[in-house]
Amino acid sequence: ELLRAQKALAWQEVARRVAHEIKNPLTPIALSAERVAYQLERHQTPPEFRRIARECLQTISREVESVKTLVDQFAQLASFPAARPAPADLNQVVEEALSVFAGRLDGIELHRDLTPNLPPVKLDRELFKRAIVNLVDNAAEAMQESPLKRLYVATAAPSGDALELVIADTGCGISPEDKEKLFLPYFSTKGRGTGLGLAIVSQILSEHKASIRVEDNQPAGARFVIEIPVWDGPAQPPEAQT
Ligand SMILES: Nc1ncnc2c1ncn2[C@@H]1O[C@H](COP(=O)(O)OP(=O)(O)OP(=O)(O)O)[C@@H](O)[C@H]1O
Ligand SMILES: [Mg+2]
Repeated sequence: ELLRAQKALAWQEVARRVAHEIKNPLTPIALSAERVAYQLERHQTPPEFRRIARECLQTISREVESVKTLVDQFAQLASFPAARPAPADLNQVVEEALSVFAGRLDGIELHRDLTPNLPPVKLDRELFKRAIVNLVDNAAEAMQESPLKRLYVATAAPSGDALELVIADTGCGISPEDKEKLFLPYFSTKGRGTGLGLAIVSQILSEHKASIRVEDNQPAGARFVIEIPVWDGPAQPPEAQT
C-alpha cells in the first residue's frame, strides 16, 4: 500500500513538473504575438499581408490559451489522490469558490441562496472548491451568447442526511444526448475545451461520496444538483480528540 502511495506521489510530481515546463514558454509566446500585433497596426503594410498576419496572430493567442487550459486540467487530474476530507461548512467553501470569480463574471447576475446554519459536511476544501470553480466556469461559458445571464448558487438541507448544492445558469442548456456523455473525460462541445472539467468534478465528488445530476433549468439553461452526505462523526471538533 505504502509503495503504491509513494509511486502515485512520484507520478504526481512528474506531472506537476511537466505541466510547469510546458506552461513556462507560453507567456513569452503570447506576449510576442501581442507585440507583433501592436507593431502591425502601427506600420504601413500591404492589406493582404496584414490580413494573414492578423489571422495567424489570433491563432497563436487562441491556441496558447487552449494549451494553458489543457495543462491546468492535466495538473489537476494528476493531483487527485491527495483528497483529505475534514469537517467543513459548505457555505464557506462555496463562498471561497465564488471569490475566485470576483470581477470575472462580466455581465452575469449572481444570485446566492445559501441556507444558514447547515450541518457540517466532510470535505477536502481545496478539491471541492475546484469542483465548484469548474461548474461555474462552464455556466459562465454557456451564458456567453444568452440575453439573460443569471447564475444561481444555492445550498440547502432537504433531508437530515444530505446537503444539496445547486449551480444553475440561463445558458444554452444541454441536449438529452449530451447529458449522457457530459461527465466522460474528453467530451466537449467547445472548440478549445479539454472536456476534462466535468470528469474532474465527478472524480472529486465520488471521493466525497457525493453525487451530481444535471437537469434543465427554468426558463433556460442547465442546473447541476450535488448531494453531499452530512458528516456523521462525533459532535466535538476533531482537535478535541486524542
Ligand atoms: N452549464 C452548462 N451549460 C451547457 N453545457 C454545458 C454546461 N456544463 C457543461 N456543458 C457541456 O458539457 C461539456 C463538457 O464540459 P467539461 O467542463 O467537461 O469540458 P469543457 O468545458 O468543454 O472543457 P474545459 O472544462 O476543459 O474548458 C461542455 O463542452 C458543454 O458542451
Ligand atoms: Mg469546463
